[in-house]
Amino acid sequence: MSADSLPHSMLITADSAELRRSVAAARHAGQLIGCVPTMGALHAGHVSLMQQARAECDFVIATLFVNPTQFGPTEDLQKYPRPFEADRDKCRAAGVDLLFHPDLSSMYPTGFVTFVEVDGLTARWEGAVRPTHFRGVTTVVAKLLNLTQPDKAYFGQKDFQQQAIIRRMSRDLDLPTEIVTCPTVRDPDGLALSSRNAYLSPTERASGLSLHRALCLAREKVRAGETNLDAIRLAMRAEMEQTPGVAVDYATIADPDSLVELSEPQPRMVALVAARVGPTRLIDNLLIP
Ligand code: PAF
Repeated sequence: MSADSLPHSMLITADSAELRRSVAAARHAGQLIGCVPTMGALHAGHVSLMQQARAECDFVIATLFVNPTQFGPTEDLQKYPRPFEADRDKCRAAGVDLLFHPDLSSMYPTGFVTFVEVDGLTARWEGAVRPTHFRGVTTVVAKLLNLTQPDKAYFGQKDFQQQAIIRRMSRDLDLPTEIVTCPTVRDPDGLALSSRNAYLSPTERASGLSLHRALCLAREKVRAGETNLDAIRLAMRAEMEQTPGVAVDYATIADPDSLVELSEPQPRMVALVAARVGPTRLIDNLLIP
């Protein structure tokens, strides 16, 4: 076996002291450290984050932790998929150097009462439907960034509001980590990759394509010179609503930083959509132009 065909060696640890020792050694060796936080159930979207980290950094950490504080009381934390072996293999194949998968009691020890909250940005869109979700995300991401001390941390554009909130947290709290947002990975027909796609029947999956169609429609209309954003929002909504089995939560055009709905076109905009397709809730977005 040539050295090239040997599997990439990856340290797997649940121990934060061991993590800190490895990070300190990498830092001491002058290595640029990248971190990809995940909740596992990895798909090609996650792998693309790891590949980008691999291309840009010397030492790549992936974290795998199903974070209970970002699940609402009616969302089924217990049922969240946890295919550890498959996830581990994907991390290794993507060239991850260290996989950190802490256990619940080390992340949230008895007596844990401290949360990180980003006001405003978290109240709209996804936050309106999932009121405690983002405070769970920001709290765990702050903890993971403190533990891994990366130069760069990688998040997907697919969760547009999440990355905007994490950027704001990082700016407001002067975190030393650069937040990198990587493009959404899509199936060839346009469906954005998501762990939730696994819940879709073939018919629901076909209906789910209406989210991407609505976003493309918004982009086309802006490109064609339409300046009435309300009219575009209505067209996006209609595109999804005319598809059987789709119940629209929102279809909007907003400022990409504040996520405030826009009344006038501006150079940078983001189209955001969310809908329930059968029992599954899907979200998607597109930057315009
Ligand atoms: O996007 C996710 O998978 C999670 O929200 C994150 C950022 C890993 C925090 O648990």
